[in-house]
Amino acid sequence: SRGSEFVVVANRLPVDRSVGADGVPAWRRSPGGLVSAIAPVMRRRNGTWIGWTGAPGEELDPFEEDGMSLHPIAQSAEEVALYYEGFSNATLWPLYHDVVAPPVYDRAMWDAYVRVNRRFAEAAAKVAADGAIVWVQDYQLQLVPAMLRALRPDLRIGFFLHIPFPPVELFWQLPWRRQILEGLLGADLVGFQLPGAAANFVRLCRRLLDTRYSKQDVFWDDRVVRARAFPISVDVGELNDLVGQPEVIERAQEIRGDLGDATVLLGVDRLDYTKGITQRLQAFGELFGDGHLKPGQAVFVQIATPSRERVEQYQLLREEIEQQVGRINGEYGEIGFPVIHYLHSSYDRSELTALYLAADVMVVTPLRDGMNLVAKEYVACRRDLRGALVLSEFAGAAAELKRGAFQVNPYDIDGLKGTLLAALGAEPAEQARRMRSMRRRVIEHDVDRWAQDFLSELERPVRSVPSPV
Ligand code: UDP
Ligand code: G6P
Repeated sequence: SRGSEFVVVANRLPVDRSVGADGVPAWRRSPGGLVSAIAPVMRRRNGTWIGWTGAPGEELDPFEEDGMSLHPIAQSAEEVALYYEGFSNATLWPLYHDVVAPPVYDRAMWDAYVRVNRRFAEAAAKVAADGAIVWVQDYQLQLVPAMLRALRPDLRIGFFLHIPFPPVELFWQLPWRRQILEGLLGADLVGFQLPGAAANFVRLCRRLLDTRYSKQDVFWDDRVVRARAFPISVDVGELNDLVGQPEVIERAQEIRGDLGDATVLLGVDRLDYTKGITQRLQAFGELFGDGHLKPGQAVFVQIATPSRERVEQYQLLREEIEQQVGRINGEYGEIGFPVIHYLHSSYDRSELTALYLAADVMVVTPLRDGMNLVAKEYVACRRDLRGALVLSEFAGAAAELKRGAFQVNPYDIDGLKGTLLAALGAEPAEQARRMRSMRRRVIEHDVDRWAQDFLSELERPVRSVPSPV
């Protein structure tokens, strides 16, 4: 065959075949913001998506799904443990999120990371047509750009990092810092969520590799590598459709009915230590202890989607949250009036939309987050201009939504309590004013605009490297 003109390479395919709690393997939508953002873009562009099914050891032939060509990449159980759970999620994930948990530095994990990155690069080299665009996604695959360029210098290679890029002082800890940076520099364009991350990257190139540069262009290996910010976003069209569906509206009313007369606060996160779940529940619980809230008057619905369950830090967090929920409900709840509804499972788009419509206050309090699509989804769903968004200063989304959101520092529990009360007390006119300003931004900068901006920058002809003076 002639190969594909547009190829996305991501650790995850949009569908996941991991084994459910019942022990039976089944196809489900993959968790997380990367899939939420890339799936609609791929559906509309007819590309090929290279990724993993989430099942250890599974070898599958390419197949079609939902208008996308999916090319599964196998990972053995050992590779899942060392590359995915290990280097990706016990080393890079905490390191890139401000070291909010201690990163593990382990040489066997690094070796597996190199091996699996090579497999992805080789698959992309096989599938891509002459001169095709290949768009590599996220921290699990940072070596792929350079590996792919070595195999296929004809390709145009983009890379997008969905998570934060750390300051030089933190990145410096990484024993393989040089290899990772050189891997990324194989791309023509390296995209980040925020300008600060792109600046961290350029600074790192100077300090670590002594590269020449001009503004956000790095000169490397006789090429110009551009570093730019492209804040990712949500599929506003899809959410608009969902918000208009009678079943979704009915479901939202049903949820409200089930929760009685209480004001509803909502959190929707993967169960991850970067999300600030314990901080928000602590603050909420204290509001009952202080007598600011009474059971039956306000209720917190916390969806904590299972994630990376074999990684130790995630197991510790789950225990901590479940004890905390038990303690808070035990202390402040009354018969028929728990103060927290904690749900450890994954929900589909329509159920989440119904939850967004039912929530008076959306609480998004990460300690560090690349963007946080949940915050933007809530805003996109509130065509009624009701509801309030409490948003951490440490979420990428704060850069765009700060004027309309109730901003918080999640480390400051008293500040968080005050902000929750302010959001709970906002009058409809204030809610509408804030929501309108946030909606303007999200509607104009939806996920299609994000992909368009990235891809047109990638396709733009680049100047050649200036000769040294
Ligand atoms: N999500 C979902 N079902 C759930 C929980 C979350 O489909 O039960 C989706 C959510 O709608 C959002 C994404 O997962 O699109 C989470 O993205 P976000 O950027 O907020 O965080 P991430 O999980 O990528 O860190
Ligand atoms: C974040 C990461 C994605 C990842 C997702 C879900 O959004 O940026 O790369 O796919 O979380 O995590 P998982 O480990 O289940 O793929």
